[in-house]
This record gives sequence, C-alpha cells and structure tokens, in this order.
Amino acid sequence: MCRRLRGHRLSYAATNWPRWDHHFLPWDPTLAEQLLRQRQPTPFRPDWLLQGLVTLQFSFGQVSAAAQLWLANHCGVAITDVRALMSFYHFLRESEPPRYQLYFANNIVEQQNGLEPILNRLRSKLASADCRLETTSCIGQSDRPLSALVNGLPVVGINQDNLDELCQLLNSGVPVGRWPEHWFPPADDLRHAGPMTRYDYHPGMALRHCQKLSSEAIIGLISQAGLRGLGGAGFPTALKWLGCQHQPAATRYLICNADEGEPGTFKDRYYLRQQTDPVIEGMLIAARAIGASQGFIYLRAEYLYLYHHLQQRLEEWRRQGYLGRDFDIEVQVGAGAYICGEESALINSLAGQRGIPRPKPPFPGERGLFDKPTVVNNVETFAAVTCIIQQGPAAFREQGSDTSPGTRVHSVSGDCPRPGLYELAQGTPLRRLLQLCGGEQAGCVQVGGPSGALLFPEQFDSTLDFDSPGRGGAIMVFDQTRSVADIAGNFTRFFRYESCGFCTPCRAGTVALEHLLKRLQQQPERRLQAMEDIMELSELMAETSHCGLGKTAALPARNLISRWVAHD
Ligand SMILES: Cc1cc2nc3c(=O)[nH]c(=O)nc-3n(C[C@H](O)[C@H](O)[C@H](O)COP(=O)(O)O)c2cc1C
Ligand code: SF4
Repeated sequence: MCRRLRGHRLSYAATNWPRWDHHFLPWDPTLAEQLLRQRQPTPFRPDWLLQGLVTLQFSFGQVSAAAQLWLANHCGVAITDVRALMSFYHFLRESEPPRYQLYFANNIVEQQNGLEPILNRLRSKLASADCRLETTSCIGQSDRPLSALVNGLPVVGINQDNLDELCQLLNSGVPVGRWPEHWFPPADDLRHAGPMTRYDYHPGMALRHCQKLSSEAIIGLISQAGLRGLGGAGFPTALKWLGCQHQPAATRYLICNADEGEPGTFKDRYYLRQQTDPVIEGMLIAARAIGASQGFIYLRAEYLYLYHHLQQRLEEWRRQGYLGRDFDIEVQVGAGAYICGEESALINSLAGQRGIPRPKPPFPGERGLFDKPTVVNNVETFAAVTCIIQQGPAAFREQGSDTSPGTRVHSVSGDCPRPGLYELAQGTPLRRLLQLCGGEQAGCVQVGGPSGALLFPEQFDSTLDFDSPGRGGAIMVFDQTRSVADIAGNFTRFFRYESCGFCTPCRAGTVALEHLLKRLQQQPERRLQAMEDIMELSELMAETSHCGLGKTAALPARNLISRWVAHD
C-alpha cells in the first residue's frame, strides 16, 4: 500500500504566491512575469488571461492600468477584453491597494449577528488606518460569525468585545500572517460525522481497484450506489459520466467545482481542507471513468488561503506517481463572482472569459471546456466517489432512500448553539437536525440556501433529501424574533447583486423585485397589488431567465407572500 497521504496541517507559511501576509509588491513587470511563470509555465495565453489577472491581483494588491496593458500585450488580446474581465469579477481592482483589505459577508446570518454595528465601530476606529472595509455576499464562514477576509485570510469570531484588539492590530500594521493564532479558524471539525467522513480511508486503494476495471465497470459501480451530485441539482453522477464518456472525442476534461458561494454553505471548505485526498482520488477515478486527460479544481477566491495546501497535496499525489502522467490537475482561482458556480459559467471562466452561463443544450458533457466533452462535479461528489469505490456501493446504499441514497454534509448556521457541519443520511427529518444543533425552538429555517425553501415549525418533519423542499445542504436557523421580510429582502438583494446581467428578465427582474418587496412592507395600502406583481414577475423570471439564478431569484419573495397569505 502506498504511504499514507493524510495527517497534514494547513500551513499559512509565506509562499511566493499568493502573498496575503506581506505588504503588496510595487508593480514590476519582471517580477510579474516570474510570478505568472511560477503558476503556469506558459501563462501568456488568452485562456489564462483571468488567471493572469488573479495572480497579479493577489501579488500587487491591484491590477493597475499599466499592468492590464502589459498583460493584454503579452497575451495578444485587446485591452477591452482585459477591461471586460476587470469589471465582471468583484475581486479584481485597478485602484491602489490599502495595507489591509477587509471583506465581511453581508448575508442574513451575519446581518443578524450585528454586522452593521461592528462595521460602524470599525469605520470610526480605523479612520486613519490604511484599511478598506467592504462587504460581499458570502465568504464561506457563516458558522463563525462575524468573520472577515483580511488580505485573503479568514479571521473569525469578531465581536464587540474583541474589536479593540483587532483595531490595534490593524492600526499598528502587523502583517496578517503574524497575528495571534486565535484569530484564525480552527480545523473544520464535524459536529456530526457519518459514513462518508469517518470511514477508514486508505489513500489510493479505491483508485488501484479502478485501475483493474473498464470505464463502464467503474461507472456501473457509481450507478449501483445511486450517487446523485451534491452540488445542488442532484443529477445522477453515473449518467453524467456516461454522457461524456460516450462522446466521440480525443480530449475530455474534468472539473471539480469548488466555487461554493451559496450564502450559508461551507461544507466544501471542510472537504478541501480535511478530506483533500479523497477529493483528489475521486477526481482520479472520474478521470479514468470518462477518459479525461486534464482536470481542474476551480477554487473560489474566498478560499484562496487553501490554495497552497491543495498544491501540496496534489504534489504528493504526483510524487506517488498517481498524477502527472496520463492525467493531471491544475488549480485555477476564481475572482469573486457567485455565478461562476453555475457549471457553464464556470467553464467560461476557466477559459479565461467572463463567467456568463451558456445556453443549454449543448450540455458540458457534449461541449464543455474548449468545446470538448467535460464533466463538472462538486467537491463533495468526488469525496463520495472515493468512499463508494473503497467501501462498495452496497455500503453507500445502506443509508438514505431509494431515490436519494447515501448521506451528505449539511452546513448549519444562524440561531442555534451548535452551528457547523453535520453529516446525515439523506431523508433525515429537519427536526432531527434541529435537535442536534440545538435549534428546536426555531421560528423558521431556510433549507437549501437563498434559492431553497423557508420552512416553519409545522413543516419541520419535512425530510432533507433531493425529493423534499430545499433539498438540504445549507441550513439557516432563525429564531422566533427574526423577520421573514428581512430574510426575503436579504436574499433578494443577494440575487440582484450577483446577477451577471446577461439577460433582461434577471437583470431587471431582480431590481424590480427589491422595489416591490419594499413597497410590500412600507405601503400597506398597495400591498395586494405588490403581491400580484411579485407573483407575475416571478413566473416571468422562472420562464424566461437564461440560467438557474434568474429562474429561482423570486423564490424568497414568494416564500414571504405565502407566509403572509397563510396568516392573514
Ligand atoms: C447560480 C448557480 C450557482 C451554483 N453554484 C454552485 C457551486 O458553488 N458549487 C457547485 O458544486 N455547484 C453549483 N451549482 C450547480 C452547478 O451548476 C452544477 O450543477 C454542479 O457543480 C454539478 O455537480 P454535481 O453533479 O456533483 O452536483 C450552481 C448552479 C447555479 C444555477
Ligand atoms: S439568469 Fe441572471 S445570472 Fe443567469 S444568465 Fe441571466 S442575468 Fe446572468
């Protein structure tokens, strides 16, 4: 058996890239070329344009006009192409960087945990510090409110009591990497482990088993297990792989979707950090099953602090001879655009373009990255693949139901004493999860993130699986004092902010929805009309929007109306 690959600790050691705990570097084209070549031997290609910008951003703290022109010339693209990327991705900046860039998430959980008063106090105390305070939709730390990304590193547990200490660090200019350890997140311990997270994993065992099998036989095992994708839609994994493997093509690609951006979701963070090897091994198995020659991990920029760790683990798999010959994996980094989690937008982003979803069909399995057949799976799906092959499909099927077999890890946040990660069998009642996290007295629970379902106590026996409202995954618990209108308003604003603007129903519809929600609350005499308008608009958006974001963006407003109608 190969040497064990586990037991690694996350290291914040200074690396050449990314440079979060240093002062950003002054612009220097020679150094820029060195840094780019460190990441990619042939970086000056149009399809690597976005990665070039990301590398410059996290080295120099900005992509100045001079740097943009320099990169455009080297890649042989028009400067307008570079500008189009700069304006699309939230984390790419032309302006000079401050010494500290702080991003707080402004999703509902953070709002309810006192985000605004903390921001106000910070603004007054840091007035003279070289510090920029900003909010973004989600930084993947909702179980540890309040948290912030400080120069890319997550700093957790910020509250009114320790704010002075934080300000002292910022005012005195200590590099973030040298801050006291208690500011950084501990390892992602599961609150409730299960068969997928606590089995006796033997690195390489599942892969070696697959090396003796044909593609069809590997896909057959995944089909027997009944695995459904754990990134949201629950599409059967074996069917997706088969669709790609059947395509007559010499080149096929495999992508691990690590863009986890749904507010309230942070389980991929755990897999990427604590279960890195099963994820990589799952990718190796999938590559063998579909005949892929190149794989990518698309890592959201908010998880950039995991980049070095991922590279270390990949390097170890290469050293062991499993990676780097017929198949290799490259980590590419997003730049702060939620829509890039949608698989076809992600594919465009990987090709160096703006993350605008593609029309479907053709589906990625037919024409994906660089128009080649491509499989996109979620991080957790790959971890499940390794577990299924090592333990056997029957063991996977012992949990869950016929239509939703196995288990999944739920991200729990909000008003409960034990927020965190819970692996539970598919089909577990929501009530059971609330007992485990201490949220039994909840007034309502959002299941499945902002585009999911808002459930009330009379619905807590609803199960968490692919056939039930919200499907599970992100679970936000709200106590009885929380306002359903505030929840709907926050989610609607999220969709408006993250709409990529490509199609009118979503671009204009999300703005209109926000106005209608305000009218609903502030003008009781026009409430009935506002309700009718919201229902009509939501149907139009569901029918005519180009992708899933626009199709589901009106659900929070509809949830609010259903609740009011039921109680009026
Ligand atoms: C707006 C939008 C955002 C999405 N974000 C993610 C994401 O962050 N991670 C993810 O795995 N899937 C996300 N998805 C689903 C992906 O499009 C795709 O279905 C998934 O990555 C497939 O993996 P799976 O089959 O393993 O679930 C998103 C879909 C939409 C419409
Ligand atoms: S529905 Fe929204 S996010 Fe999707 S393509 Fe249209 S504008 Fe972009």
